[in-house]
Amino acid sequence: MKVVFNEKNTDFKVCLIQNKDLSRFDDKEFFEINDYKGVGAICNLAKRTLYVGLNDELTYASFIASLGSAIKSIKSLNIKSISLEFINLGCEFYSAYAHIYAVISSLYEFNKYHKEPKNSKIELISLETQQNDDIQQGVELGKVLANACEDVKNIVNEIPSTYNQLSFEKDALKLAKEFDLECNVYSDDYLQKEGMNAFLAVNRASSYPAKLIHLAYKPQNAIKKIVYVGKGLVYDTGGLSLKPADYMLTMKADKSGAAAVLGILKAASMLKLPYEIHGIIGAAQNCISEKSYMPDDVLISREGVSIEVRNTDAEGRLVLADCLSFAQDLKPDLLIDLATLTGACVVGLSEYTSGIMGYNEDLQNEFYNNSKRSGEYTCVLHFNPHIKELIKSKIADVSNTGSSRYGGAISAGMFLGEFIRKEYKDKWLHLDIAGPAYVEKVWGENAYGASAAGVRMNIINLLRMARSAK
Ligand code: BES
Ligand code: ZN
Ligand code: ZN
Repeated sequence: MKVVFNEKNTDFKVCLIQNKDLSRFDDKEFFEINDYKGVGAICNLAKRTLYVGLNDELTYASFIASLGSAIKSIKSLNIKSISLEFINLGCEFYSAYAHIYAVISSLYEFNKYHKEPKNSKIELISLETQQNDDIQQGVELGKVLANACEDVKNIVNEIPSTYNQLSFEKDALKLAKEFDLECNVYSDDYLQKEGMNAFLAVNRASSYPAKLIHLAYKPQNAIKKIVYVGKGLVYDTGGLSLKPADYMLTMKADKSGAAAVLGILKAASMLKLPYEIHGIIGAAQNCISEKSYMPDDVLISREGVSIEVRNTDAEGRLVLADCLSFAQDLKPDLLIDLATLTGACVVGLSEYTSGIMGYNEDLQNEFYNNSKRSGEYTCVLHFNPHIKELIKSKIADVSNTGSSRYGGAISAGMFLGEFIRKEYKDKWLHLDIAGPAYVEKVWGENAYGASAAGVRMNIINLLRMARSAK
């Protein structure tokens, strides 16, 4: 996508309407006949104009959703260029990002399996505003994030018979080559040697080996070391605690956390962020064979904490337990895991919102506030000692499921907390992206399928951390 400024000759014009105010447009008859009052989007084909009614409560999220969903309505037209009005949503840099991200991301569709895939022809956006450094850099951020998110969506949307643990290895090595990242890939033998029995148990029934992938981006000017850990379940059938058919569907998206980690590393490299950033991916497949791990098993994790398996469908936390252990050996200043961890998080927070958990309230609040600029919705879920009681086991140090029907997102987060060493408790965040990672009922800028949840909020959190460090 090419972005220019104030180009007069474009195929289509996109007008942004605030506070339902239509008075500045010379299109009264059209509004009247369509009974358009500035709510939602409407297209006047004769005038080659798209009117986008913005939410009264204008946020980065609502703006991206309104503009993105409006652009979807014209993306199948034979147009190559659009001119787009510009609105300052509070900060020019993030506003420019929001405009560009909304347009580019809304053009995405996972259509490779269609006989005749139709792709949008839009290749140029002209922003109607005076350009300056902030806006220019915001445009760049929008392009980079849209690009990184597209890769993530392609990985998550890829079908389970095609995308397996080895595919993650391939994609990680490709990314490492392109951006000169360090990349080490470990398989079953190494995991065994390291005592990663929780991770290994989950993958035991798979015909592919488990893969722990370690990527590192190490710029010279690094001010901090950040480690991201991603849940990479290439498929989650539930294992012997088998999911019912309806719930199994979409579980190709259980690799979303790991895919987001790849996206974060790509975006960070493209933006040359001043952080040493490590990405750890735990790639496994939770399926059934005579080798399956079983409910009633007890697993000794890499941290030495024993785990009673009460449900083989609570597998993500087992993979993460060992990956978080590996991650802490890297001595991070900030440790963040991303995972489609619980259905309970979707029930509690909706399919639009990711949960933020951890022990450090300031860190959680800072992340929550920073994530607002990204347009992704997050919500802090607090730990408490009553919920910790729920993951007690009679025969091991901890149980992999909570003993109550309630509070499943937090009990899963607190389970992970059992594998965080004392010195890293305040440096750790757990992000449960189970809701927004996969879009079944289309909303906002998103197409059906993967949304690349977690990428934008993390990159923007890093940008804002770097700014406040100055
Ligand atoms: N991958 C699922 C969580 C999930 C559910 C993600 C729905 C996205 C949408 C996870 O592995 C899982 O199955 N969790 C169980 C835990 C339970 C057995 C304690 C769940 O949430 O039901
Ligand atoms: Zn599961
Ligand atoms: Zn899972």
